[in-house]
Amino acid sequence: MSEENHATVAVTGVTGALGGRIAARLAEHGVPQLLVGRSPDRMPELPGAQRRGPAAYGDAPAMREALEGASTLILVSGYRTGRRLEEHATVVEAAMSVGVDRVLYVSLVGASPVATYLNARDQWATEQFLAGAGVRHTVLRAGWYSSTPAALADEEFVVSGPASTGRAAFVTHEDITEVITAVALDDRPRCEHDGAILEITGPEALTLDEAVTRIAAATGRPYRFETETLEEAFARRWRLGMSGVQIETWISWYQAIERGEISTVTDVVPRFTGAPATPISDAAWWPEPRTARGVR
Ligand SMILES: NC(=O)c1ccc[n+]([C@@H]2O[C@H](COP(=O)([O-])OP(=O)(O)OC[C@H]3O[C@@H](n4cnc5c(N)ncnc54)[C@H](OP(=O)(O)O)[C@@H]3O)[C@@H](O)[C@H]2O)c1
Repeated sequence: MSEENHATVAVTGVTGALGGRIAARLAEHGVPQLLVGRSPDRMPELPGAQRRGPAAYGDAPAMREALEGASTLILVSGYRTGRRLEEHATVVEAAMSVGVDRVLYVSLVGASPVATYLNARDQWATEQFLAGAGVRHTVLRAGWYSSTPAALADEEFVVSGPASTGRAAFVTHEDITEVITAVALDDRPRCEHDGAILEITGPEALTLDEAVTRIAAATGRPYRFETETLEEAFARRWRLGMSGVQIETWISWYQAIERGEISTVTDVVPRFTGAPATPISDAAWWPEPRTARGVR
């Protein structure tokens, strides 16, 4: 499709894993884009895309300037800073003030004020803010990455945490990207995605033992999962020198799996892409051990 057929889409987080993939896919579809973020020099060069910024989420004037000319905003959630709601709200308000009329917010599966996974709580807060902001919007809750168990492994390829036999419907970055791209491309003036919360999951809910066993088979590396008690989980991470926030956050990641909070399998990937969701063993790439942010 030619660029004239699409309104301009602003994408944040393009220096990161999801935003970068989304921007690349939109460029392939000929969508004119504004790439918005803190470091324009680290943004990808894409056809039909302008690099805008520096604009941090919390910087209203810089955001207004960076978003000028966009019709749709794809807001990839930022880091858990303690002010994530305020930062996201600043981006949305800046967007509305310069005429953006649709926001696609990339949230997280399991978002809830009582989510076990601490990272999912203020994702819910942004969803609530959007619901009352008076802007056309869709919430796209990204499932947990298929790659994360591999990134959590230690040098011996052991993944350890208090997840027991709980399950998670891990999903690939590529499937998440395809769904978000499909929703962004659907730029009818009104559509059934308005106000919707779409949970983007993988095709099946796996225990961490099953997930790690499949990653081992796919990579030929001896990954294995060892469940830990809470006490073991705290003590081991403390000995490794992790901060309290890191310990609490990552233990909550495993506990959310143990409690089944990430286990729902939805039809969102097949519905939006026309293809089945990718099984974990067919993921396109695997990270090296110990590459999850701040994690052991
Ligand atoms: N689904 C999952 O399993 C999963 C896993 C991890 C995270 N997440 C969530 O999904 C979000 C996106 O994931 P990802 O894998 O793409 O993360 P990522 O690779 O760390 O990328 C995050 C992006 O957000 C940008 N950003 C963060 N805070 C910002 C701020 N205050 N102002 C401007 N830009 C900001 C970063 O810009 P800079 O380059 O300038 O830092 C980067 O481009 C994460 O932030 C997290 O909330 C989901």
